[in-house]
Amino acid sequence: MPAILTSAPGKIILFGEHAVVYGRPAIAVPVTQVQAQALAVATPRAPLGEVRIQAPDIGLDARLDELAPRHPLRLAVSGVCETLHIQRLPAFQLRVTSSIPLSSGMGSGAAVAVAVIRATSEFLGTKLTDEVVSDLAFEVEKVHHGTPSGIDNTVIATGRPVYFQKAPEAEGGLGSRIEPITVAAPFVLVIGISSERSQTLQVVGAVRQAWQANERHYEALFDQVAALSQAARGCIEAGRPEEMGALMDENQQYLKAIGVSSQGLEALILAAKKSGALGAKLSGAGRGGNMIALVKPEQAPAVAAALAEAGARQTIVTEIRGKN
Ligand code: PMV
Repeated sequence: MPAILTSAPGKIILFGEHAVVYGRPAIAVPVTQVQAQALAVATPRAPLGEVRIQAPDIGLDARLDELAPRHPLRLAVSGVCETLHIQRLPAFQLRVTSSIPLSSGMGSGAAVAVAVIRATSEFLGTKLTDEVVSDLAFEVEKVHHGTPSGIDNTVIATGRPVYFQKAPEAEGGLGSRIEPITVAAPFVLVIGISSERSQTLQVVGAVRQAWQANERHYEALFDQVAALSQAARGCIEAGRPEEMGALMDENQQYLKAIGVSSQGLEALILAAKKSGALGAKLSGAGRGGNMIALVKPEQAPAVAAALAEAGARQTIVTEIRGKN
């Protein structure tokens, strides 16, 4: 069996985080400068069925069956086996690496799941469609996030900008509206990773509690955010991405009102704006993690430098095109 190497990009949410959990549309784009990789290699001397998982970034080197039944890596492999109706696996080794910053809202968990699902299925002789890969990664996302909207696995499995609206709760997240966005004119984002980690599960839980306590207020905020996602899609498809700057600033005000910004993120957003960004907002769950700034291409180095100066532990400049 030949060795199989697969990869999956990181992602950022351009508009609509949190509101997307409550059925509003959001926009996410892949970030190809960072990625997760999985390498599947046969280990003919090992006993039949022995699958060894190595993830040096997190110090993991174990047999698959030694991992807890709901360990994300074990779920990713077992999801493939169920889909392909495979009961007895050949002996092989999976080596997982990732350059996607952890707990930063860049989708590292979903990207690792997508890479592992692809490596395992291709090693076993079947190339799954992006849709099936995404559905399997969604199951893994539930371990990381509790009640994920499904936007991370969707944008990472398809590898292209997406307008996403979750299916109603009753449908268990399946049948969500997933529309690829045509990027009529490329645009440049500077991503600033803050030094605070973002804990998606906790932040999403805190927003749910606040929503339960004041449903009407939060529903109104989510409606406002939905209108911004719709308007932003129009800007991207019309080739006027610079008009998204003001929409990003507005989205940030709503994210603050939802209660998911932080001092560190606000400092980065202010630094980006002061150094000439067209718009800036946090991205992902918030209360740490990353923020993004829309810039004219020639401004990118100055904005990245300003973010580093204001405390970003990493900056990434990325150009968003139709299919990266
Ligand atoms: O980018 P992350 O992984 O921090 O995701 C958060 C996005 C949310 O909208 C807050 C949650 C979700 O599942 O969509």
